[in-house]
Amino acid sequence: MSTPYSKDEIAALQDKARRHLWLHFTRMSSYAGNEVPVIVRGEGQYVYDQHGKRYLDGLAGLFVSQIGHGRTEVAEAGARQASQLAYFPLWSYAHPQAIELADRLAALAPGDLNRVFFTTSGSEAVESAWKLAKQYFKAIGQHSRYKVLSRAIAYHGTSMGALAITGLPGIKEPYEPLPPGGVRVPNTNFYRAPSFVAADLTEFGVWAADEIERAILREGEDTVAAVFLEPLQNSGGCFPPPPGYFQRVREICDKYGVLLVSDEVICAFGRLGYYFGSERYGYQPDIITFAKGVTSGYAPLGGMLVTDRLMEPFASGQTTFLHGITFAGHPVSCAVAMANLDVMEKEDLLGNVRANQGAFRATLDKLNDLPIVGDVRGDGYFYGIELVKDKATRTTFDDDESERLLRGFLSHALFDAGLICRADDRGDPVIQLSPPLTCTQEHFDEMEQILRSVLTEAWTRI
Ligand SMILES: Cc1ncc(COP(=O)(O)O)c(C=O)c1O
Repeated sequence: MSTPYSKDEIAALQDKARRHLWLHFTRMSSYAGNEVPVIVRGEGQYVYDQHGKRYLDGLAGLFVSQIGHGRTEVAEAGARQASQLAYFPLWSYAHPQAIELADRLAALAPGDLNRVFFTTSGSEAVESAWKLAKQYFKAIGQHSRYKVLSRAIAYHGTSMGALAITGLPGIKEPYEPLPPGGVRVPNTNFYRAPSFVAADLTEFGVWAADEIERAILREGEDTVAAVFLEPLQNSGGCFPPPPGYFQRVREICDKYGVLLVSDEVICAFGRLGYYFGSERYGYQPDIITFAKGVTSGYAPLGGMLVTDRLMEPFASGQTTFLHGITFAGHPVSCAVAMANLDVMEKEDLLGNVRANQGAFRATLDKLNDLPIVGDVRGDGYFYGIELVKDKATRTTFDDDESERLLRGFLSHALFDAGLICRADDRGDPVIQLSPPLTCTQEHFDEMEQILRSVLTEAWTRI
């Protein structure tokens, strides 16, 4: 037990939270009669709540805390930077921390992704990539290219542009009309593949990639600016790319002069055992968007890495990328990112993921003996477990059942059992795991045991 807050402190926090705090993507009414979970401290792979209760952080916060919690050397790097120079913008000026980090990221990134434009978040990174694609094509005389393709159920952020790229109808509807140009293509959920390609993973991948070509031709090849794809799609419950998928997508993008944007807000910085997810799957993007793991959450930072070719129209003459964000590339965040990368390097955390990813998969695969577990899928330290009503027919839950199962039981039960993970039904119902990269077998076992007991109980309640 870590030192808990006193009863009075807890009551005061709950009262203030209920009256004044607005939680993100949260049905606030559900806390009217329930305690708001308050996390007060983190150490390694664990976090602690206001009562001193410990939880295994199976989601790295929100796919963020790659190096784990409580790293004082990273916190101190931020504090040192705040004393030296807390803030200066990247509008016309530079500071050493942004320069050094840009240089380091360019060296780590595949191919000639040599230029870094910083943001503060993933949504801003995605927004920036779309704006750059549009302006780039105007600058080279291809004025009609503005559309973006992305996959069904994929999440790319919440600002209006990023939301237009996001493929989740439910979270877009209240904000329509969104900026025009977002076009959907199929994702790579092999578990739910259409029957005519369901027998062969490679064939399914070729079909899913060729759907991108068909969408480009349908929309008009001179109107499409970019395709936004995550290396391994998060939303929907971790869809890895089939073999050859990205190679075929790259060919299609080259054939039609469309930019390939690898949205690596989750998949970069070790999540899949490499600095970049595109490296793991062997493809070369034109733009990589990143955020989250670049600082492991010790300060907010995002950005995009772009190729020399995309920078060319902006490197000479009078063309300016007319875009900027006050806190982007914040000196404290850049200093923290450098310290975070130092930890990853010193402790070979990418090597840890590569060495233990097989054990993680094997441990989660044990859950396949439960009747409610339909599919266990993912790569690296990033997994989704799809829940089904009937394993043999792969029948999923209807909306009411899903509501009762996920919101009514699983989310609370997993938390109460001491595991932070995500129960999500924006696609079919899934549980997602994305633990700190420092995790080893003991943590995999703890996740498996908690999931086994809670999912067994869930089955009796259906
Ligand atoms: C692939 C992807 N893109 C963009 C975003 C948006 O990032 P942020 O929440 O930092 O704006 C996310 C967030 O989870 C993401 O997973």
